[in-house]
Amino acid sequence: MSRTPLVDAWRRALAARRRPMQVPGHKMRYAEGAAGWSYDLVGDLVRDDVPLQGGVDDNAYSNKYLDQAEALWAQSVGADHSRFLVGGSSQGNIAALATVGDEGVPIAIDRTSHRSTQAGLVLIGARPVWIYPRLHPEFHLPIGMEAASLTAVADQVNGFFATSPSYIGTVSDVASLVAATRPRKEPLIIDQAWGAHLDFLPEGGAMRAGADFMVTSVHKALLGYSQTAVVSMRGDLIPTSTLDRWVDLTTTTSPSGTLLATIDGTRAAMERGGAERLALIIEAVAEARRRLARVRGLVVLDDAVAGCRVDPAKLTLILPGTGADGVVLGEALWQLGHGPESADHDTLVFTTTVADEPEWVLEFADLLAALIESHRGEARPSSPLAVWRVEPEVVLTPREAFLRGRRRVPMREAIGEVSAEQFCPYPPGVPLLAPGERVTQESIDAIHAASRVCRVAYCSDPTLETMLIVDSA
Ligand SMILES: Cc1ncc(COP(=O)(O)O)c(C=O)c1O
Repeated sequence: MSRTPLVDAWRRALAARRRPMQVPGHKMRYAEGAAGWSYDLVGDLVRDDVPLQGGVDDNAYSNKYLDQAEALWAQSVGADHSRFLVGGSSQGNIAALATVGDEGVPIAIDRTSHRSTQAGLVLIGARPVWIYPRLHPEFHLPIGMEAASLTAVADQVNGFFATSPSYIGTVSDVASLVAATRPRKEPLIIDQAWGAHLDFLPEGGAMRAGADFMVTSVHKALLGYSQTAVVSMRGDLIPTSTLDRWVDLTTTTSPSGTLLATIDGTRAAMERGGAERLALIIEAVAEARRRLARVRGLVVLDDAVAGCRVDPAKLTLILPGTGADGVVLGEALWQLGHGPESADHDTLVFTTTVADEPEWVLEFADLLAALIESHRGEARPSSPLAVWRVEPEVVLTPREAFLRGRRRVPMREAIGEVSAEQFCPYPPGVPLLAPGERVTQESIDAIHAASRVCRVAYCSDPTLETMLIVDSA
């Protein structure tokens, strides 16, 4: 039976019913059922919160429960070293990039990667050399990074960063990316935020394919508490202590032992029958794909349609041939309690996990087929999201642009200037325009078009009437 050092220690801490004369401020009074005053406004929300320090472990971390749990995770995913994170894969991406990059150092980065990579670049001052996944010729969706894209820039860069799986579930052939980077001994980071479950499939995830660093969100595709993620590394290109330094720099000094223990518990759950359960869900998704493929005009993304591997737990639908509008369907699904992972006019993305039941997946597929029929319209040409094909003119590094003076101008007057901020449609959280990039008519049109479909996040003026540009004066 797989060990669970953090989970066990967490349970003991809960059962101990201590009266701590230290943090947490809520004093873990939920354990004695405290009620009255206004505690009950918060008590339910902090129920089960045990800090790592002075809770799950003692103040000096004498028992090293976290270290033990991290070592078990590393062993499980084929890594030499893993660190648990409470700042999501966002923190993992920042820490991994900072580990391989430095001020002015060029790094090849997938321009369809998550906004957190830009945060990493701001922190360390590295210079992005943007690379792009292949786009599907008909649907204009990312279908995996190719080794040739890395090889093409290999003599200009000191590291590589690629995202796999993509938001829509397409998976890159990581082994071929490793083969492309290996001769130069420059590290390869794979953002596998959406594919934590892949590590528990027989073929394994990015670590087993030979990547040097891998970031996975435990809260997305597995069972972890929201915010939980892991950054893992293998090999000896960079010492593990360098990763530790950046993880420690970017994290809280008061992590929740509860959150961390859910990572430990998730790993053990996957080792104790979770992988078999995942196989059942994957079977159900395959059957759901078959049923949905019978809907006239609907394209269901699978390996054959995409021309690359597709995450077997993801359900991604391409709608234009049905005439149905994904935004309208997404809203209807939200009302029904089946919120989609993402919905734009053309595409619906659904995430299934080991916490689903196979029969729910099938019921959902039938409901979805009926919903699409009831919203059927004239087949239309596709109108793909602009985020998958942004090719910016990089004028300044993200760090230079972030730290320089800035001024606010009406959006239409910003054309030709350098953006000082990020415009990021959510989902998928890939910036349309980022600090340091030239503002163009095309970028402004894309931002306004995105705002009609979803939230454009992280810009300072949510009305999108003005924006901050780098003040070159
Ligand atoms: C590809 C990718 N990487 C990283 C992240 C950040 O993950 P987290 O929300 O765990 O910080 C996301 C979030 O959606 C993502 O899509």
